[in-house]
Amino acid sequence: MRTTVGIVGAGPAGLLLARLLDNEGVDSVVLESRDRAYVEQRQRAGILEQGTVDVLRDAGAGDRMDREGLRHDGIELRFGRRRHRIDLPALTGGRSVTVYAQTEVCKDLIALRLEGGGPLLFGARALAVEGAETDRPRVRYLHEGREELLECDYVVGCDGFRGVSREVFPPGAGRVFERTYPFAWLGILADVPPSHDELVYARHDRGFALLSMRSPTVSRLYLQVPGGTDVRAWSDGRIWDELERRLETDDDWRLRRGPVTAKSVTPMRSHVHEPMRHGRLFLAGDAAHIVPPTGAKGLNLAVGDVVTFARALAHLRGTGSAERLDAYSATCLRRVWQAERFSYEMTALLHRDPGATPFEDRIQLARLERITGSRPAEQDLAEGYAGFPLE
Ligand code: FAD
Ligand code: DHB
Repeated sequence: MRTTVGIVGAGPAGLLLARLLDNEGVDSVVLESRDRAYVEQRQRAGILEQGTVDVLRDAGAGDRMDREGLRHDGIELRFGRRRHRIDLPALTGGRSVTVYAQTEVCKDLIALRLEGGGPLLFGARALAVEGAETDRPRVRYLHEGREELLECDYVVGCDGFRGVSREVFPPGAGRVFERTYPFAWLGILADVPPSHDELVYARHDRGFALLSMRSPTVSRLYLQVPGGTDVRAWSDGRIWDELERRLETDDDWRLRRGPVTAKSVTPMRSHVHEPMRHGRLFLAGDAAHIVPPTGAKGLNLAVGDVVTFARALAHLRGTGSAERLDAYSATCLRRVWQAERFSYEMTALLHRDPGATPFEDRIQLARLERITGSRPAEQDLAEGYAGFPLE
């Protein structure tokens, strides 16, 4: 098979890229190792920045998001049993975020791609990207038991943290910047209306807790747990009890409990692979960078990367200039590092580090007091949360 852009991976990055290219009249083939149900049901991100919402809408992929997504104009920081609301539009010149799950973004993009008849192969596992240094890169992949070759002008590796695209970089051609954290997130989905109408980020002596949601009837909640935690050690009752303790306030706020429908543990890491391009292979999304989830940045960064690639390719086709494509990695990395910084700082602000000294604990509380007591400090957090603009 032959195409202009070979896309490895049908997560949000690969699916949105396929849509953006379709809109530009550029043909592409998407290879996804898992089946459609897996991609549509994998519980992950829930928060879309304003810029992501705008991109999806402009791409003609925002109809259901506009009907069913929940616009949020604030988040709550909770610590010392007190609540502090961050008013996002007031602090950012009108920007807000939208609660619309990654599962739904993927469902919408898959439906659009299949309606348009564009190739999207499920159960197609890329084995290797070859010839990245030539003008005919290829993806070798396995589909229906046969090994096949996809010949391309460009390959975009959207195959997530555990994909194969990054292997293209010869030793010495890439550099990894990384940090692992000694804790993880235990996340649940529950069939119960959210206990608050906005997200609550809570710092507690027992660890971080987050109250989020998927819809007016479905709650999504997270607890900081030690790295390597086995989810089976946490019964539903134990999870609710712990959430209640970490989220408790001095006022009459109460946590609503309900049936838990999903439960999983996610490790936390920061990871950046530089550069994000080798020859005609471009990395996008989690294939190039991971952030700890505290700032809700991962999916939004993936969107920024593929928009940057699609615009750069359109520029080349429109003007003959490869200047923007050549600048792809540097352009993406500027925004990536701001999101890495923000996610790192949000993580440090809200989690209990088991190695922290009593002095560092006090500094953490002083940071929270500063953010909630100073408008410029609060504004800095709000700007980061609402999202860094695309160049
Ligand atoms: P992925 O979603 O990982 O997609 C990669 C795809 O490639 C997968 O479908 C995979 O099956 C496929 N693939 C892998 N290898 C191959 C291969 N060899 N051949 C073919 N296909 C392959 N982000 C936010 O912005 N906001 C949030 O609120 C948020 N919350 C999160 C909460 C949790 C608990 C977690 C775990 C993550 C969260 N994120 C959040 C991060 C977000 O989910 C990711 O950043 C996002 O999924 C990245 O999209 P992607 O398309 O780059 O990669
Ligand atoms: C969700 C995930 C996040 O990482 C976050 O910061 C906020 C919300 C969520 O899954 O709803």
